Amino acid sequence: MTKVITFANFKGGTGKTTNSTMIAYELASKGYKILLVDQDPQANATSLYAKTYEQLTGSRPQFKKTLMAAMQDGDLKQIITPIKENLDLLPSFTDFIEYPDFLEDTYPGKDLRPQRVRYFAQLLEPIKSAYDFVFIDVPPTVSVYTKGALYASDAAVIVLQTQERSLDGAENFLTELQRLIDEQGHFVDVVGVLPVILKKGGKVDEYALESAKEIFGEENIFHNVIKHMDRLKRWDVSGITEDEKDVHDKRTHAIYQKLSDEFIERVNALETQGV
Ligand SMILES: Nc1ncnc2c1ncn2[C@@H]1O[C@H](COP(=O)(O)OP(=O)(O)O)[C@@H](O)[C@H]1O
Ligand SMILES: [Mg+2]
Repeated sequence: MTKVITFANFKGGTGKTTNSTMIAYELASKGYKILLVDQDPQANATSLYAKTYEQLTGSRPQFKKTLMAAMQDGDLKQIITPIKENLDLLPSFTDFIEYPDFLEDTYPGKDLRPQRVRYFAQLLEPIKSAYDFVFIDVPPTVSVYTKGALYASDAAVIVLQTQERSLDGAENFLTELQRLIDEQGHFVDVVGVLPVILKKGGKVDEYALESAKEIFGEENIFHNVIKHMDRLKRWDVSGITEDEKDVHDKRTHAIYQKLSDEFIERVNALETQGV
């Protein structure tokens, strides 16, 4: 059964894109079939994967249409873009800014609001069964983007940069998640809260991590905490590389391989709980 997972936090720069694209990459290397949906008009995931594709093949991938155009057509299949073995992308572009307007025009008035939230899930339905996992990378807003992504999702990973504002963003996310569940009657589980610590020995970081354990429950926090890695910043520019002789490449992949193992364990645990 395909699992659809949204990577979320209502704050920007917490590592949603980095961690969704990296976990997707490692899972694909392990043989899981993955579709990464870039729903952010900033298109950072699309940019990273386009460069990664170029590293692998020597040429840029061909994007036939933008996600916005495909949404307007009501057909996402036409823009599925292979990045590497087992890893496909639904690419975003700046025109995806028009998505809320498009939904409002298509489903005008208050009564049709729920239809707007359900639209993406309907379009994902015919393509998702080819994958083990569909990951959705969303912009950091309480909006029809995130609501639509969550409505299509079985579960969410909350990416928590251990700074106070990010913690607020994560808490607000849980509140919104509950509201969505109540409004739409669609249950979304939480795979876990992934802490991203960007400073060494930072007091705020330690405090925020302790608060996160209290708020979300220690058992819901990923054991594999993501620390600052310069290599991730480099990959933003170069695309993901996997040079056997490069110690930083190897170390960064090793960290994400372990994290992706924990991700699978956590998803399996959700299933055995019967949800
Ligand atoms: N563990 C990390 N180490 C170093 N830089 C990171 C790490 N995680 C994310 N970054 C950098 O922080 C910035 C924001 O991360 P990003 O994943 O784009 O966040 P979001 O998608 O939540 O806005 C990017 O430039 C990214 O390269
Ligand atoms: Mg992002």
